[in-house]
Amino acid sequence: MSKLELKNLVVSVEGNTILKGINLTVNGGETHAIMGPNGTGKSTLAQIVMGHPKYVIESGEILLDGELMNDLPVDERSRKGIFLGMQSPVEVPGVTNFDFVKSAVSVRLPKDQHLRIGRFILQFEDAAKELSMGSGLSHRFLNQGFSGGEKKRNEILQMKLLKPSIAFLDEIDSGLDVDALRIVGENVTKMKSPNLGMVLITHYQRLLDYIEPDFVHIMIRGQIVKTGGKELITKIDQDGYDWLKAELGVTDFEEKQPQYSLGTCATNTAVNSVTK
Ligand SMILES: Nc1ncnc2c1ncn2[C@@H]1O[C@H](COP(=O)(O)OP(=O)(O)OP(=O)(O)O)[C@@H](O)[C@H]1O
Ligand SMILES: [Mg+2]
Repeated sequence: MSKLELKNLVVSVEGNTILKGINLTVNGGETHAIMGPNGTGKSTLAQIVMGHPKYVIESGEILLDGELMNDLPVDERSRKGIFLGMQSPVEVPGVTNFDFVKSAVSVRLPKDQHLRIGRFILQFEDAAKELSMGSGLSHRFLNQGFSGGEKKRNEILQMKLLKPSIAFLDEIDSGLDVDALRIVGENVTKMKSPNLGMVLITHYQRLLDYIEPDFVHIMIRGQIVKTGGKELITKIDQDGYDWLKAELGVTDFEEKQPQYSLGTCATNTAVNSVTK
């Protein structure tokens, strides 16, 4: 059973601090949901756990089963069982969908084992069928020209075959029609096990109707400001996030812009001198 721990995680991107002290523990068998307004750092959290090089850990720790992950490259984290279903899956021309997953699964095998290709083809076909994906998708280039919903289903196909122990699914419901949402929901729920800890990032109750979370966290401006159970999902669905302002004692969730006084701001001084 795996355990992912995020301890006081502060993360920046291109000099801007986005995550401002995240504490989160995800144990195998648990499903966590993270909700929050646009731009509050949910995808940043998922990307930093997976090891996207654009994001910089200023302080804090990412631990998997007690082992520090902070400096490990993406492939090492993947080998150790971390998976990210991306909000916007990238298109990779020249690499077929099948070859991509086959390579990812092969490199994760112990050194003395080889992928049994016949068995893997059957597993791939079964997974695609369970997700109602057309068979032609396996031989097309990875995500190239896939519809929004096909890309999202393809992320779940990869997850089914990679069998991670910790998975972040970032807005896996966006772009899915109602039938696809049910199919994805049922497939992810079927994967629930004591060997898998999941973090679902979503804006809507509809996904969580299919995949029941044990914990719901609300993230605002780079911090988890509230943790609760399923009752939080209904509250957010009905009332949005405004009610949290009173609870947190703030009038606005927006970042305050730096204030300049007239005369110290070069632009204002220049404008004043032109208009005088
Ligand atoms: N290169 C960058 N420079 C400055 N700010 C950035 C950069 N990249 C991302 N950000 C900012 O980081 C913040 C968090 O972005 P993130 O994608 O994590 O939000 P999110 O909570 O996933 O939003 P959404 O719900 O819209 O997906 C946003 O305000 C975004 O504009
Ligand atoms: Mg996002």
